[in-house]
Formats: sequence, C-alpha cells, structure tokens
Amino acid sequence: MSDWKNEGKIRQSTRSRTRSSSFNWKAILILIIIVVLFLITIGCITMWACYMKKVETTNNTTTTEITYLTTTMNASKFKKWNQTAITVAGGNVQGHESNPLSRSEGIFIDKNKNVFIADRWNHRIVEWKYNATEGQIIAGGKQGNEIDQLFWPTDIVIDEQNHSIIIADYGNKRVMQWSNQKPQILIDNIECHGVALDKHGFLYVSDWNKNEVRRWKMGDYNNKGTVVAGGNNRGNQTDQLDFPAFIFVNEEQSVYISDKENNRVMKWRKDAKEGTVVAGGNGEGRKRNQLSHPHAIVVDNLGQIYVADWGNDRVMRWCEGKEEGEIVIGKNNQGNQSKQLYGPTGLSFDAEGNLYVADSLRYQIVKFEIIS
Ligand SMILES: *[C@@H]1O[C@H](CO)[C@@H](O)[C@H](O)[C@H]1NC(C)=O
Ligand SMILES: *[C@@H]1O[C@H](CO)[C@@H](O)[C@H](O)[C@H]1NC(C)=O
Ligand SMILES: *[C@@H]1O[C@H](CO)[C@@H](O)[C@H](O)[C@H]1NC(C)=O
Ligand SMILES: *[C@@H]1O[C@H](CO)[C@@H](O)[C@H](O)[C@H]1NC(C)=O
Ligand SMILES: *[C@@H]1O[C@H](CO)[C@@H](O)[C@H](O)[C@H]1NC(C)=O
Ligand SMILES: *[C@@H]1O[C@H](CO)[C@@H](O)[C@H](O)[C@H]1NC(C)=O
Ligand SMILES: *[C@@H]1O[C@H](CO)[C@@H](O)[C@H](O)[C@H]1NC(C)=O
Ligand SMILES: *[C@@H]1O[C@H](CO)[C@@H](O)[C@H](O)[C@H]1NC(C)=O
Repeated sequence: MSDWKNEGKIRQSTRSRTRSSSFNWKAILILIIIVVLFLITIGCITMWACYMKKVETTNNTTTTEITYLTTTMNASKFKKWNQTAITVAGGNVQGHESNPLSRSEGIFIDKNKNVFIADRWNHRIVEWKYNATEGQIIAGGKQGNEIDQLFWPTDIVIDEQNHSIIIADYGNKRVMQWSNQKPQILIDNIECHGVALDKHGFLYVSDWNKNEVRRWKMGDYNNKGTVVAGGNNRGNQTDQLDFPAFIFVNEEQSVYISDKENNRVMKWRKDAKEGTVVAGGNGEGRKRNQLSHPHAIVVDNLGQIYVADWGNDRVMRWCEGKEEGEIVIGKNNQGNQSKQLYGPTGLSFDAEGNLYVADSLRYQIVKFEIIS
C-alpha cells in the first residue's frame, strides 16, 4: 500500500517538475536508491556479523575451546538448556540431611564435574563430587576468625594446578588459601566478595568497602595490589562501582564485574580508566534490558555474558553492545514452587556446557543440561 502511494507521489512530483528540473528528480531518485542500498548493506553486515563469527569458531576446533579459570568450555555449543533443574547438591538429594547447604554463593565446577560451593551461612567450603549424594567439608566449618575458620565465605576459585582453594572470607575481611587442608592468609584487611584468576597468573578480588577490584600477581601478596576497576568512591558513573560482587576475567585481561547495587555488569579493559556497561544499567527491574542485583557472571569466547539475575530468579545472556539480553533460564514466573530458580547467586559451566546455578533460597545447586 504505502509503496504504491509513494510511487504515485513520485510520479506526480515527476510530472510537475519534468520541464523545470528534469535533472533534479533523477538525481534525487538515484540518491534515494543509493541510501536504501547503503542501509540494506549495513543491515546485512550487522545481521551476519554474529553468525559469521559463530561459523568461523565452529569450523575451528582450536578456537572453539576457551580456558576460563581452569576449566575449558566449548562456547559454540552453548545454545539452549533444558529448563528442568536437576539437583546436584543439597536440596532434595538423598542423604543430604547430615550435610545440608545454607544459602550458598559462589560455586566452581572442576574438569571432573566436582562441585565446590561457598556455603556462606554455614561458614565453610563444601565439595560435592560428581554424582555424590553427600558433600564433604574441605575448609572451615565453624564461624570464627581463627586461621582454620571462616566467616561468611562468599566466593571461591580452585587453582587446579596447585590443588589449592582461594576463598573470599568476607566476614573476616581476608582472602584465604587452603592447600592440602593447610590454611594461609593471602591478603588481609579487605572486604573481599568475589575472587577470580586469569590465565596469566593474577588473582582478582572485589572490595565492598572501597568499591573497586584489585589484582595481585599470584604468590606476591606483600603489597597493595593494583586497582583494575572502580576505586573512585561508590557511585553510578562509568568509573565507579556500587558493591562489586562477582568477577570474570577473559583472556585479554578485561575484567567483568557484577555491579550489584547499580543493577548492571561493567567491563573494564586492561589499563582502562573507566568501564562500559555491558548488561543492565537501566535501573532495577524485570524488563529484558534490566537486572536486579546481579550476582555471578561468566563470559564465553563469543563475548556473550551470562548473569545470575538474583532478584528476577533468572539467568540472562547478553551479547555485548545489545540493548537487551535474553532469558536463558527462568521463564516460569508462576510462583516460587514451580520456578526454576529462587535467588540465583553462583553460576558456572562444566566442560560440556551444562549450566550450574546456586539456587540459594532453596539451599541447593542445580544443573541445566545443554540441548545440542
Ligand atoms: C571449514 O573450513 C574448510 C576450509 O576453510 C572448509 O573446507 C570446510 O568445509 C569448513 N567446515 C565447516 C564445517 O564449515
Ligand atoms: C584456527 O585456530 C588456530 C589457533 O587459534 C589458528 O592458528 C588458525 O589460524 C585458525 N584457523 C583458521 C582457519 O581460522
Ligand atoms: C528435559 O529434561 C526432562 C527431565 O529430565 C526430560 O524429560 C525432557 O525430555 C528433557 N527435554 C529435552 C528437550 O531434552
Ligand atoms: C552418574 O549417575 C548417572 C545416573 O544415576 C549414571 O548413569 C552414571 O553412570 C553415573 N556416573 C558415574 C561416573 O558415576
Ligand atoms: C602454584 O604453584 C606455582 C609453581 O610452584 C607458583 O608459582 C604459584 O604461585 C602457585 N600458586 C599459588 C596460588 O600458590
Ligand atoms: C546516579 O546517581 C545519581 C545521584 O545519586 C542519581 O540522581 C541518578 O538518577 C543515578 N543514575 C542512574 C542511571 O541510576
Ligand atoms: C514462596 O513465596 C512466599 C511469598 O513470597 C514466601 O513466604 C515463601 O517462603 C516462599 N517459599 C519458598 C519455598 O520459597
Ligand atoms: C569441544 O568440542 C570438540 C568438538 O566437538 C571436542 O572434540 C572437544 O573434546 C570438546 N572439548 C571439551 C573440553 O569438551
């Protein structure tokens, strides 16, 4: 309809101008065609960019694998997950009564699919071996500030090379390392919440007092470290953070931070003076361009950001640069019994691409199997 109408208009205007300026309307028509072709080209390029990137990586098995922390995942396989949650720790797993989980926070899945959990309110770190019906306490167990005690541990990372566990011992304001069940203080006087390692041997720690992320060369902790994000007081500007919770570091040493009270995820490139918003940042809410107190984050090798969207009981995925994310887990908002998730905190993948989430308000860790 509208095309036909426009055509009419063009013809009309053509006729009336034929004598006076036959050259003008031709020029205008050619200009319009050029502009339209240009826009179509731009559109096509944009639409195919992501696809081409995927094809490229799918065709090259070397580039499909990324090593994050110490686990490898095949990002190109990451498409959809079965929405049925399978409990792998705590919750309804038989035999759990002797070893229940509290509201857990950070989780870590090693290459053998063993699940490590920061069992925050029980002041301990628990390991559930693959297929196990019961967990084992591998650090802490009693609330306190003795060297072998923990107080509200919020996040963990496993250094699989050294068989050591690095723990954000939040309540004691210290970062701990447990190697062969021997505890050691790595960093003291820090309101640490999140911990992460990169491939180059650096340890990253988020600080809720200074609203910043610092990093240390591993093994060299007798210094103040280096600020890699925030550090400009609490706030919502791009060079500020407001309760930086969890951290993810990619191969280029870009640091992704769940900026919890700003309801956004920030990305700080190496040596940057400010970050960019890569997810959320549109106030707290349930819309697809919003987050509600984001917790753990994982970024795959296509740059897609997975976020445990705590207040919305869902896991979101954001393509960097997009206005809004997509819901990966948690479309069911029918009431908390039938929800897939209830207060998701920790988030991790195993090498096959199965997604694990700390379903904190149901006191369990659940797995969502990848559908290939
Ligand atoms: C991968 O690339 C090679 C050469 O570039 C091509 O021959 C092959 O068909 C591609 N494979 C797939 C699965 O696209
Ligand atoms: C595949 O990945 C490897 C390692 O990153 C790279 O050296 C190689 O050039 C890639 N091949 C293609 C066809 O992209
Ligand atoms: C999802 O998992 C459920 C329970 O294990 C199973 O019955 C169902 O067939 C699965 N759906 C898909 C699409 O794999
Ligand atoms: C884990 O449990 C599943 C289901 O109970 C079983 O099929 C599988 O063989 C078990 N794997 C191992 C390594 O125990
Ligand atoms: C792990 O071991 C290597 C080599 O012995 C050492 O350089 C590194 O600092 C250790 N990492 C930690 C966290 O202790
Ligand atoms: C940022 O903080 C200022 C001052 O607290 C507030 O007025 C403003 O609305 C905030 N902006 C966003 C996007 O939340
Ligand atoms: C379900 O939601 C209600 C109201 O929000 C809350 O009181 C109750 O504890 C929740 N139950 C579970 C099992 O999460
Ligand atoms: C990644 O995928 C490739 C090809 O499908 C497979 O050979 C490889 O074992 C996978 N890697 C892991 C860690 O699962």
